[in-house]
Amino acid sequence: MAISVAALVLAAGRGRRSGPGIPKQYRRLDGNSAIYSSLSAFLDHPGVGYVQPVIHVDDRDLFEKASQGLAIAPPVSGGDTRQASVLAGLTSLEPQTPDLVLIHDAARPFLTCELIDRAIAAGRSSGAAVPALRVSDTVKEVDAAGRIMRTIDRATLRTVQTPQAFGFKALLAAHRRAQEAGLSDFSDDAALAEWAGMTVTVFEGESTNMKLTMPDDFSRAHEIALLRHGDMRTGMGFDVHAFGPGDHVMLGGVPIPFDRALAGHSDADVALHALVDAVLGALADGDIGQHFPPSDPKWKGAASDQFLIFAAERVAARGGIIAHLDVTIVCEAPKVGPHRDVIRARIADIAGLDMSRVSVKATTSERLGFTGRGEGIAAYATATVRLPWSTSHA
Ligand code: CTP
Ligand code: MG
Repeated sequence: MAISVAALVLAAGRGRRSGPGIPKQYRRLDGNSAIYSSLSAFLDHPGVGYVQPVIHVDDRDLFEKASQGLAIAPPVSGGDTRQASVLAGLTSLEPQTPDLVLIHDAARPFLTCELIDRAIAAGRSSGAAVPALRVSDTVKEVDAAGRIMRTIDRATLRTVQTPQAFGFKALLAAHRRAQEAGLSDFSDDAALAEWAGMTVTVFEGESTNMKLTMPDDFSRAHEIALLRHGDMRTGMGFDVHAFGPGDHVMLGGVPIPFDRALAGHSDADVALHALVDAVLGALADGDIGQHFPPSDPKWKGAASDQFLIFAAERVAARGGIIAHLDVTIVCEAPKVGPHRDVIRARIADIAGLDMSRVSVKATTSERLGFTGRGEGIAAYATATVRLPWSTSHA
C-alpha cells in the first residue's frame, strides 16, 4: 500500500550556535538524545507510515549509536543548508511519493503525539500548515543603536515550529523551483512555500516544543526531559552461581582470569543476571528466568550481555530511561577491585548508559557462608528507572 504520510527528520546541521561538543541533536538530554526522541515520536505515531532521517555524512557513527533499538530506515545525507537537507530528504522519498510530508527538526525533541495529529489534520485540510504560538511578550522594533523605533501589534504575530506539513508533490516542486532560482537559504519550509506562492496556514504549536539552539537551551531541555520521565522506579536483583572447573569467570560482561569458572546454563555472569533482574524489577516486568527460561537450550552457554540489552530495550519500549545501575559482587576471590572500571565501562556500554551512571562494588563475606567458603559468587543489584507518567499510569 502506498504511504500516505511520511516524516523527514532533519539532523544534518552542525549546531554551531550551541557551543562545543558533538552536534546538539546527538547529545544526551536525559538518557536519550534529541534525535532519538524526535525519531521515536514519529515511529510511534500510527498515522505516520515512513520516517526518513537526514544526517551529516560525518555523523554515521553517532547516528548508528543514537538510533540503536529503533526500527528506522537508513539515513540519507543532507546538504550544506537546511533547505538543501530537506531537498535531499524529499528527493529520497520520491519513489514512495507520500500524499503528505511532515518536516521536523531533530533538534526539537519534545513534540508530542497530539502535535503530530494536528500537523496531519491541518496538512490534509490546507495542503501547507505549520505549528505556531502566539507571542506573549510585547514586541519592539529597534535600530542599530538599540533605540526602540516602534511597538509591533503582537495580535497578528506568531512564532513557528516544526513539524511542518505539506502536500508532498507541491513542496518538492517548490523546492526544485527555489533551487533553480539559486535560492538556498530559506530557514524553514513555510518560508520557501510562501516564496513559491503557496498559501500556508497555522495550527496550534506547543510551548515545550523548543528547538535546541543556544547553550542555555540545554538546561531548559533537561528540565522538560526530567518532568517527562518523572515516574521514578527502583528494582532490585539477586543472583548466585557456584564455582566449577574453568580458567575465568564472567563478571559484568568481562572475563576475569581465575582458577575456576562459574557454573550455569548461560555464561553464568552473576553480576549481569542480578542487574537484569533489577531492571526488570523496576519495570514490574517479571524476571530473567521468565524471559529466558533455563529449560530453553537456546540459552546454553549464551553471553549474558544480550539479557541486559533486552532489559534495556524493554525500558526504551516503555518510553523510559535507566537513570542508574548499582551492583555489589560478593566473593573472597577473584579480586574485583582491579577490574572495577573495566566492568563499569562494559556494563555502561551494554546498557547504553554513561559510565557515571554505573556503579560496581565488591565485598567479601568475611569467610562466612557459601561465598566465604569460596563455593560461588553472589551479586546484588539495584536499578533506577524513570518512566513517562503517561504510559506508566495506564
Ligand atoms: N539542519 C540540516 N541540515 C543543515 C542545517 C540544519 O538538516 N545543513 C537541521 C538541523 O540538524 C536541525 C534543524 O535543521 O535539526 C534546524 O536547524 P538549526 O537549529 O539551525 O541547527 P544547526 O544548523 O545544526 O545549528 P546552527 O545553525 O547553530 O549551526
Ligand atoms: Mg542552522
